[in-house]
Amino acid sequence: MGPQRTRPDLGGVPETALWTLYTRAHEARRPDRLIVDPEAIKLVDALDYPFRERFGPDKWDMADGEAIRTRVFDDELRRFLQNHPEGTVVTLAEGLETQFWRADNGQARWIGVDLPEIVKLRRCLLPESPRQRLIACSALDDHWMNEVDPTRGVLITAKGLFQYFQPAEVRRLIAACAERFPGAVMVFEAPSRWLSTRMRQGRLRTPAGTPIPPTYWGMDPKEGRRIRTAHPNIAELTDLPLPVGRGKVYGRLLPWIARTPVVRNWKPVWITRVRFGDASGAPLR
Ligand SMILES: C[S@@+](CC[C@H](N)C(=O)[O-])C[C@H]1O[C@@H](n2cnc3c(N)ncnc32)[C@H](O)[C@@H]1O
Repeated sequence: MGPQRTRPDLGGVPETALWTLYTRAHEARRPDRLIVDPEAIKLVDALDYPFRERFGPDKWDMADGEAIRTRVFDDELRRFLQNHPEGTVVTLAEGLETQFWRADNGQARWIGVDLPEIVKLRRCLLPESPRQRLIACSALDDHWMNEVDPTRGVLITAKGLFQYFQPAEVRRLIAACAERFPGAVMVFEAPSRWLSTRMRQGRLRTPAGTPIPPTYWGMDPKEGRRIRTAHPNIAELTDLPLPVGRGKVYGRLLPWIARTPVVRNWKPVWITRVRFGDASGAPLR
C-alpha cells in the first residue's frame, strides 16, 4: 500500500488552484519542459483527487499556456531578488504554487495569502521554510499588509486572481498597495476583457466539461490607463511580453498577435508590472 493521499475538499474559485497545479505538473513531466518543478509533480501525486475527470486528459499541450505564464512570473521574481536579495515576496492567491522551490534564493522572506480552505490544505501538504509564512485571509482584506516588512524591498504578485474580483476591487487593491508600499513592484495577470466577459457568461469549460467559475474583471489598454491613475504613487505600468511557447497557439498564434499592431490588444492573457514610486526619491529598479 502506498502512502496515504490527501483528499482536497474545494469548490468554486479555490478548486481552480488544483487545475493550475495539474498543468504545471504536466509541464514539469515533459522532456522539453519550460519550467523545472518536481515539487508540483509530488503534490499532484500526493492528492486523492480526480484531476482527469475534472480538468481533462493528460495531454502535453494542456500545459503550454500555464508554462509561459509561470515563466514570466519566475523571471520577474528572479529579477527582483537580484536587486533585493533579502526582500519580501508576497504572493496573493498562492494556491498550491511551488514557486518557492523553483526560484527561492535562500535569503528572501515569503508571505503567501489565500483563502482559509487553501491555506489549510497547503499546510497539510507542503513543508514550510522558516522564511515562509502563510496568511489565511482574502487579498482584499488589508490585514495581510500589516504583516509585510517593507524595509528590504517588496514584490507583490497576483497570478490567476484579479479576474475573480470586481473592477473597483482590483483598482482599490492596487491603489492600497501603492499607498502602503512605496518603491515596491507588483506583477499581476489577467485574462483580456473579451475573454473575461465570455467566462462571466459561463461559456467556458475545462477540457473535461467542468464549468470555469465566472470572472468579473479583465485587462486591456483602457483598463491599464485606469489603473495607472488609480493612485498618484503608481509610477510605471508595463505590459510584459509573453515568451514564445510551443504548439499552434502559444508557438505561432500568440507571437503573431503580439507583433501585429491591429490585433495586438486581442491577446487573451495580459501580465502587467506596476512600479510604485519611492517616497525617498530613490531611482526605480
Ligand atoms: C486560478 S487559482 C491560482 C492559484 C495560483 N496563483 C496558481 O497560479 O496556481 C485562484 C486562486 O485564487 C484564490 N482566491 C480566490 N479568491 C481569493 C481572495 N479573495 N483572496 C485570496 N485568494 C483568493 C483561490 O483560493 C485560488 O488559490
